[in-house]
Amino acid sequence: MGLESRRLGAIGVEAFGLDLRREVSEADWRALRELVMQEGLVLFRDQPMEASVQIELGRRFGELENITIDEGPVDASKALLTNVDPQGRTRDRDDLKVQLLAINEGWHSDSSFRDVPASFSLFSGVTLPEEGGDTLFASQQVAWDALPPEERAMLIGLRGLHDYEQAYAIRGIDMTSVFGGAAPSATHPIARRHPETGRTGLFVSEHLFAIEGMPAEEAKVLIRRLVDLCVNPGRVYRHHWSIGDLLIWDNRSMLHRAQGFDPRHPRVMRHVRVAGSEPAIAATS
Ligand code: SIN
Repeated sequence: MGLESRRLGAIGVEAFGLDLRREVSEADWRALRELVMQEGLVLFRDQPMEASVQIELGRRFGELENITIDEGPVDASKALLTNVDPQGRTRDRDDLKVQLLAINEGWHSDSSFRDVPASFSLFSGVTLPEEGGDTLFASQQVAWDALPPEERAMLIGLRGLHDYEQAYAIRGIDMTSVFGGAAPSATHPIARRHPETGRTGLFVSEHLFAIEGMPAEEAKVLIRRLVDLCVNPGRVYRHHWSIGDLLIWDNRSMLHRAQGFDPRHPRVMRHVRVAGSEPAIAATS
C-alpha cells in the first residue's frame, strides 16, 4: 500500500500506508513531500520513533536549521521543547525556560524572526500532559484566498517586522538580557509566494509587530485583522496529542500555536525544523 490520506478537519490530512521508521522509496517520499506542501499539515499516528529517526526524516526534507543540530554528532536533546530539567524534574512555572516556551502560545510560523525562516517542521510528543498542550493549526493560504481582490492588491509588496524581542517583551521577558544583546528580528513580505508550489499566502503572525511605511496603530489593526482571518475558528485544526503521533507541516503556508497546560505536569516535545529560503513577495493577487 502506498501513501494514502484522509481529511483531518477544516485543514490538514491524516496519512496512511507509509511506515516512516522503515525505508521509504523515492516515489513515496516525493508523494509525501507534495502532500505536506499541498495540504499544509500531515499527521501520522502510531509511529513512535527514536530522535535519530525523526532527525533523519527531517534531513530528507532539506538542510536542518542549526538550532536543531548543526555541529558534531546528533544531539537529540537540542531538538526538545520541554518543561523538564536535565535531572528529570518539572520546572517551576516562573522558571525562565518555562516562560520562554510560552511564546509558542501565540500564532506563529517557525523562525519567522530569521532572515531565512523554517520550511518544514516535524513534531512529536515524547511525554504528554493529561490535559491541555494541544497544538492548533491554520492556513495562511486559505486566508489569502478569502480576501477580496482589492485587498490582496493592497497587501502585495508590504513588508512586516517579525520581532522576537517584542514577542517576549509583551510577556514581560527582556530578551536583551537573555541573549546578551539584541534579539533577532527580520522583515518579510506580508503576501508571500510559496517557493515550490507558487501559491500565494499571507505571512503574518502574533510575532509580527510593524509594517514598513505604515503608521504603528494602523499596522497593529491590520495585523490583528489578518491574523484573525487566518485563525477563524471554522478554519482551525486542533491536534490533541497521543504518543506515536508525528505531525509534519509547511511553515511557508501554515500558522500554529501551542495551547497552554498545567506546567506542574511534564510536557516534552521533539521538534525538528528544516531551513527554508528567503521569503519571496507574491507576484500577483
Ligand atoms: C511550536 O510552536 O513550535 C510548538 C508547538 C507546541 O508546543 O505545541
